[in-house]
Amino acid sequence: MTKDLPKLQMYIDGTFVEHASGTYFESYDPFTGKPWCRVPRGTADDADRAARAAHRAFTTGAWPGLNASERGALLRNLAELVAENADDLARLEVRDNGKLFSEMVGQLRYAPSFYHYFAGLADKIEGSVVPTDKAAFTYTRHEPLGVCAAIVPWNSPLLLTAWKLAPALAAGNTVVVKPSEYTSASTLKFIELVERAGFPKGVVNVVTGFGPEAGQPLIDHPHVRKVSFTGSEKTGAGIYSDAARDIKRVSLELGGKSPNIVFADANLDNAVKGAVAGIFAASGQTCVAGSRLLVQESIHDAFVDRLVAFASRAKMGNPMNADTNVGPVTNMPQFEKVLAYIDIARNEGAKIALGGGKATRPECGDGWFVEPTIFTGVRNDMRIAQEEVFGPVLSVIPFRDDDDAVAIGNDVAFGLAAGVWTENMRRAITMANRLQAGTVWVNMYRAVSYTTPFGGYKKSGMGRELGQEAIREYLQTKSVWISMAESMDNPFVIG
Ligand code: NAI
Ligand code: MG
Repeated sequence: MTKDLPKLQMYIDGTFVEHASGTYFESYDPFTGKPWCRVPRGTADDADRAARAAHRAFTTGAWPGLNASERGALLRNLAELVAENADDLARLEVRDNGKLFSEMVGQLRYAPSFYHYFAGLADKIEGSVVPTDKAAFTYTRHEPLGVCAAIVPWNSPLLLTAWKLAPALAAGNTVVVKPSEYTSASTLKFIELVERAGFPKGVVNVVTGFGPEAGQPLIDHPHVRKVSFTGSEKTGAGIYSDAARDIKRVSLELGGKSPNIVFADANLDNAVKGAVAGIFAASGQTCVAGSRLLVQESIHDAFVDRLVAFASRAKMGNPMNADTNVGPVTNMPQFEKVLAYIDIARNEGAKIALGGGKATRPECGDGWFVEPTIFTGVRNDMRIAQEEVFGPVLSVIPFRDDDDAVAIGNDVAFGLAAGVWTENMRRAITMANRLQAGTVWVNMYRAVSYTTPFGGYKKSGMGRELGQEAIREYLQTKSVWISMAESMDNPFVIG
């Protein structure tokens, strides 16, 4: 371990702290392939300390006494601070996950809108007066759950943190954030802004470390009442089942194998760009990746030619450069996983139309780069069409007609997103109705907004982030009954 790299510190109960184990692990810069900072290796002791601090902050001190408008005001402070620091935070994220600066700075400049949106929503959570058949005045309140664990992956660390933190805090919960072991640095910088925004101590805590060592104890902790997780299907399934022991609330966003469907009547220039946006943006490391490109048979060959021509012009290299299109893959295990899937596809009989391995271009240096890869001749029952790769690897699958597109599109275990490219409005709406996906884009791809619910069908997850629905995931309903009767009836039977 290189001793002179900067050391990060966890943040618990309103202060940066020494962690229990005293040991660190290295975080790598995917562009250089070298370690650049040391991250505290958290354990159950740190998770326990953070969960207790969050529980104290939920039950005592200033936070539970704030009204919803005051919580909203703190979130607006945070939004302003994130806006002021967006470029610095984006640079940190690029260092740690290798995604393009242009993408990360876009995310960080957009993140304040998510805090503003939920700041505005905080004091618009209205219960109702319920007309009841009993001699009582009855109303409902929507109350926070308590301590929420936010388990975040590496692909968009601070944006995905905002998706969880903003509604959780607007609703009045307290939070322990566990960033990915590959990308903890930006979260530990961001937490300084949370402190400056004026949140009381213990309301937001950050525990770093590996999933099984630092994340699992949060899932198992008796004070944690809700887990909000984004990541792999396997880890998500484990969290769902472990959280069941204490009947914790869970929301899961688990990625997919989304179909991006191009009809012969589409605007093909836009469809080519949409296919590229679906799989080569962010080097394919997005949960909504349009990793199955379904192309209508009559245009299949011509469309693939145009796509290959466009994608082959993508520039690879330093993700900080404004003209780079495709950066490295974020971590070594992911790099190896993507390359392994390329071999799997080859062995299954898929044909390489572009790329097909590690990038050896000089501008890629020692970084973890995979060539933008396009497979044709893919059948939907192949592993390359069924399993999430999370890299720049596209499977092209031909289809006959609308029914065939729907059948192939839906024939996977996942259901996060889908794209449809057509100039026919009836077809667009019919396809949007028939595709089993939490998001369907027509003549666009990979758009998200704080206003619009986002989440999975089938194995892509449960619960919704963003939009007004999201805050419900962090609230529970209480019914209050106040008797209007002069005297009580028979106490031995239900009233
Ligand atoms: P992962 O699902 O194991 O990790 C995601 C987060 O969960 C990280 O913060 C990790 O430390 C934490 N975690 C892991 N095990 C845990 C446990 N037992 N208890 C609590 N927290 C735990 O994903 P990983 O290893 O980073 O990537 C593997 C695959 O996951 C990728 O190849 C990709 O297919 C998928 N993935 C999907 C994402 C999405 O946006 N849906 C994002 C990142 C990865
Ligand atoms: Mg890193």
